[in-house]
This record gives sequence, structure tokens and C-alpha cells, in this order.
Amino acid sequence: MSILVLGAGGQVGAALRWRAMARGQSVIGLKHDELDITIADAVRRTVADIRPSIVINCAAHTAVDRAEEEPERAMAINGEGAGNVALSCALASVPLIHLSTDYVFDGSKTGPYREDDPIAPATVYGRTKLAGERAVFDAWGKHVILRTSWVFGAMGSNFVKTMLRLAASGQSPLKVVDDQIGGPTPADAIADACLDITTRVLQADIVPWGTYHFAGAPTVSWHGFAQAILAHYPDLVIAPCTTEDFPRPAPRPANSVLDCGRIRAAFGIGQPDWTVHLAHLLRDLGEMPTESGEDGS
Ligand SMILES: NC(=O)c1ccc[n+]([C@@H]2O[C@H](COP(=O)([O-])OP(=O)(O)OC[C@H]3O[C@@H](n4cnc5c(N)ncnc54)[C@H](OP(=O)(O)O)[C@@H]3O)[C@@H](O)[C@H]2O)c1
Repeated sequence: MSILVLGAGGQVGAALRWRAMARGQSVIGLKHDELDITIADAVRRTVADIRPSIVINCAAHTAVDRAEEEPERAMAINGEGAGNVALSCALASVPLIHLSTDYVFDGSKTGPYREDDPIAPATVYGRTKLAGERAVFDAWGKHVILRTSWVFGAMGSNFVKTMLRLAASGQSPLKVVDDQIGGPTPADAIADACLDITTRVLQADIVPWGTYHFAGAPTVSWHGFAQAILAHYPDLVIAPCTTEDFPRPAPRPANSVLDCGRIRAAFGIGQPDWTVHLAHLLRDLGEMPTESGEDGS
């Protein structure tokens, strides 16, 4: 069994390589400079040559604000690129796990989003990711689309690292939006969910293909998340502000909360507790002392 990870240099792609290796699974990770998913021929040749047991596509244009300025590039990667991957998988008869986002919703719902709630992306990023979902759906039946939210981990850039950088710079008070809620999702946990789905896909006769939500719990606002990240900076003031106080080129969903009941029912995969993963990450980044009794090895 071999797993081919595309976009392997990103947060989730890197976590997938490490988690797969830790689980003793054979994994090939291709970074952007090793395979560009916008080049259809290259993707087709790569999948045909490697003939993996499964492809996990983490490659994406994730710069939400920049996407507003370069919609064609975002569509080439998130929309057409996803289609190239799915078509290549279909031609080689290889199952595909494709990552997507809560941004396919506009965030106006009260309560967690279910997979079959109406989609209404309000940003270029969201529209291009939705185009990718549709391209995957149209090209190849043996797919799992995994929508996630608020990803953080050791690799790449994310909200945790931004908050730590701002805190280290001595900036205080830090104003953080308090009227947008969601589920911070550890990249490691997404990787494990993908690997659990992979095991099922490769071992079971009947696979519940389709679209699933996977996000961390408990629900929190960005402000609450910042407080958790910076709890060890007792003198730092973290001031709540509104979305209006902090305008961005791409509007952020007020509600990014994903209902994760379907993936639990179909695959037995539960929601990760982001507070536990955050504590581990802070310790790994040297932000927290190791607990007494641990030798740090
Ligand atoms: N980050 C979040 O908060 C979040 C939230 C919800 C859903 N998601 C979804 O989760 C998935 C993984 O996200 P992530 O946080 O791991 O993103 P990430 O850290 O930005 O990683 C994406 C990777 O894709 C690569 N890439 C960009 N264009 C490519 C191309 N044309 N061909 C091949 N690789 C390309 C990037 O390489 P370069 O950097 O070299 O361009 C980067 O290494 C994505 O589908 C994303 O939409 C993310």
C-alpha cells in the first residue's frame, strides 16, 4: 500500500507525511516544486507512473485575501487543479481524498453546518474551492471530500504562529475578532482522519464515498482561541473586537462551525479536542515548559 500526497509541503501535507511514517505506512509526498497540479499532463503521468493505492490532495491556493486579487490563479489551482487530480485518479482507477473548506458556506447559518446545507461561498477562495469539489465529484466516483476549518500545526503559517509572533513582538493590546466562531483543527488530526479513511477505503468492500465535515471541538471565537494560545503571556491584553473593526479584502464567515456527525457515523472518526493538540504544539514550539516528571526526550 502506498499513499501519494500532493501539496506535501503545506500544513496538512507535511503532517500527513509524518503521521503516515509514524504509522508505518508507505508514503510519497510531492511538494509544489515537485508536482504542480495545474499541469494536467504532469499530474496524469505522475499518478500513472507511481500507481499509488490512494491519492490525498492537499495542494491548494489558501491565501484567502490574496485570492481576491488573483482569482484566475486561485481557480487554476483550487478548481481546475483539483479536477486534474481527480481525472488522473479516475484514469488510473485510484481512490482520492480531497481537502476542502467551510468557506463553501457563507457563514450566515445559526448552528453547525451539515454536509447538505446550501452552499453559498462569499469569497474567491470559497468559490474556487467549491469549483474543485464539483470537479472532483464530476470526474471520479471513488472520492472522499473532507471539508475542514481553522487549520493549525507545526508547519506552515497559521493563526497560532501569528499570535505567538505578535505576542513576542511586545504588541499589546492585541485586538482579535470575537464575532466569528469555528472549530480550530489540528493538521495532525486531519492527517490521522485521512489515514483512517485510507485504511477503510483499502480494506472494505463497501466504502461510503462522498463529502464529510471534520473539525476540532469545542467551538470557540478567534478571540477565545487567541486567549488559549497566549495563556502563558499573563501581562498581554487580548482585546475583543468585531469583524467591522478589522476589515479584510475577503469577508470571513461569521459561523465556520461544521457538524461532524456524518464522518463519525460513516467512519467512526470523532472530533479532535483542539485544546489538547494546542498544548502539545506550544510545548513542541518551546512556548511551554515540559510537565514536571518529563525529561523532554
Ligand atoms: N489552512 C486552513 O485554515 C484551511 C481551512 C480549511 C480548509 N483548508 C484546506 O485544507 C487543505 C490543506 O490546507 P493547508 O493549510 O495545508 O494549506 P497550505 O499550508 O497553504 O498548503 C498548501 C500547499 O499547496 C501547495 N500548492 C499551491 N499551489 C500548488 C500547485 N499548483 N500544485 C501543487 N501544490 C501547490 C503550496 O505550496 P506553495 O506554498 O509552495 O505554493 C502548499 O505547500 C487545502 O485544501 C485547504 O483549502 C485549509
